[in-house]
Amino acid sequence: MSATIIDGKAFAADIRSRVAEQVAALKTDHGITPGLAVVLVGSDAASEVYVRSKGRMTVEVGMESFEHRLPEETSEADLLALIAQLNADPAVHGILVQLPLPGHMNSDAVINAIDPTKDVDGFHISNVGLLGTGQKAMVPCTPLGCLMMLREHLGDMSGKEAIVIGRSNIVGKPMAHLLLGESCTVSIAHSRTKDIADVVRRADIVVAAVGRPKMIKGDWIKPGATVIDVGINRVEAEGGKTRLVGDVDFDAAREVAGAITPVPGGVGPMTIACLLANTLTAACRANG
Ligand code: GUN
Repeated sequence: MSATIIDGKAFAADIRSRVAEQVAALKTDHGITPGLAVVLVGSDAASEVYVRSKGRMTVEVGMESFEHRLPEETSEADLLALIAQLNADPAVHGILVQLPLPGHMNSDAVINAIDPTKDVDGFHISNVGLLGTGQKAMVPCTPLGCLMMLREHLGDMSGKEAIVIGRSNIVGKPMAHLLLGESCTVSIAHSRTKDIADVVRRADIVVAAVGRPKMIKGDWIKPGATVIDVGINRVEAEGGKTRLVGDVDFDAAREVAGAITPVPGGVGPMTIACLLANTLTAACRANG
């Protein structure tokens, strides 16, 4: 039987409309317009696309969008000075520095310079520590979007076997903490994991975040499992065109899984919706 397709696009649109309602209420009741500052250093093509759509959706939900585009050769000191200015600006409630940064910058130092209460990416070491110890944190947007889809689809996840494939700071590690928070039995697989297919076959919940097109095969999936595909990989298609595929072999996996997210239209739209939700949260907290 074919899997239920989890519609991230529709879910994200619903979140954005609820965020928009609350933004309007915050304006009417308290005279506050949430503001999100996005900083892009250099001209990475994929980052340009993300930053443009973040800016558009920020404005669509009624928030203020501040875009800072800096040249590739910007010094780390100049970027830190901009972050200090944004930290001090009361109109800015959320700050996002688009990654990856150019190689001459220390990304950890840059991220940790952001005021943790404005860290809508949830990458600052204080937010990482809060999440890791089960305390109230600003949670990274992609894993948060994955969790929301899992909750919506599965409800209680307590006692389920979950596997996160990929150990990045942006997705894999925070995802594992969130699933632990749901009382799942959590494994993290990565490039050195032995017999990865067998490890994945045990899982009721699979979150794939490796960045390798169609790496996870249909026969790795336990029948009935819920599969969340974080991968967005551009591959060659017929006629010299390109198309996006996930980390999971979707056509094969959908024949086995109970539910699966598509690429595109799954996790991607949820990430931006969660960024807007985090910005709203930051603005509400700033207002006491
Ligand atoms: N680059 C790829 N994903 C992300 C993200 O979620 N946040 C930031 N800041 N940069 C990214």
